[in-house]
Amino acid sequence: MSYAENNRPLQIAIDGPAGAGKSSVAKVLARRLGCIYLDTGAMYRAVTWLAMQNQVAFDDMEGMKQLLAELQLEFKDEDNVQHLYCNGTDVTEAIRTPEISANVSAVSMIPLVREEMTAQQQKIAAGCNVLMDGRDIGTTVLPDAQYKFFLTASLEERARRRALELQQKGVEVDMEQLMADIALRDKKDSSRDVSPLRQAEDAELIDTSHMSFEEVVENLFMRIKK
Ligand code: DC
Repeated sequence: MSYAENNRPLQIAIDGPAGAGKSSVAKVLARRLGCIYLDTGAMYRAVTWLAMQNQVAFDDMEGMKQLLAELQLEFKDEDNVQHLYCNGTDVTEAIRTPEISANVSAVSMIPLVREEMTAQQQKIAAGCNVLMDGRDIGTTVLPDAQYKFFLTASLEERARRRALELQQKGVEVDMEQLMADIALRDKKDSSRDVSPLRQAEDAELIDTSHMSFEEVVENLFMRIKK
């Protein structure tokens, strides 16, 4: 089945705040549509991980430049799970810790980092059908995407979903703290100078607060099929 227009590869952009369910929905939807899924948040998390591993301060621009020059990010499907390798190390689990979540906004506001990530993401998208999720996909990375969605949900609901995810991994959760962390990350992601979290003018806003996971997938799938 092809949804591409005029032989142009299919591009789908899903943006939205932390915990809106973008990644889970995007993974399933990409599989259903037969296109490549790119988790752009994972790329920013990997750069954060690398800087922390190498003890490069986030305001050390020479250090960050050096890290970016040597950066090798590779997504590999292993047993139906997408793994991310950073300079040869599997960082799939390591980039999901609360420590990385707390620091990733600081790294993703660095213009140098955004330039490099955007260039890599656009290179991956060139020539293949792709579904990307992130914060600036519809506005900056794929401004000509045929389908743009902005997924959101109330702060309480997003924190509840994130708590479930963490609890399933055996991580203890303090709901108040989790809500405060998510709100702070939203604020930082929305107020940065370069490519802030913003709904593209031509994106469809979907509030998933009262929708099940399956309903969200079906909703997006039907809009694309139409
Ligand atoms: O989707 P996520 O929560 O894994 O993203 C982690 C962080 O990366 C998020 O707080 C902001 C940043 N990010 C970004 O700035 N631009 C993107 N396209 C994707 C993520």
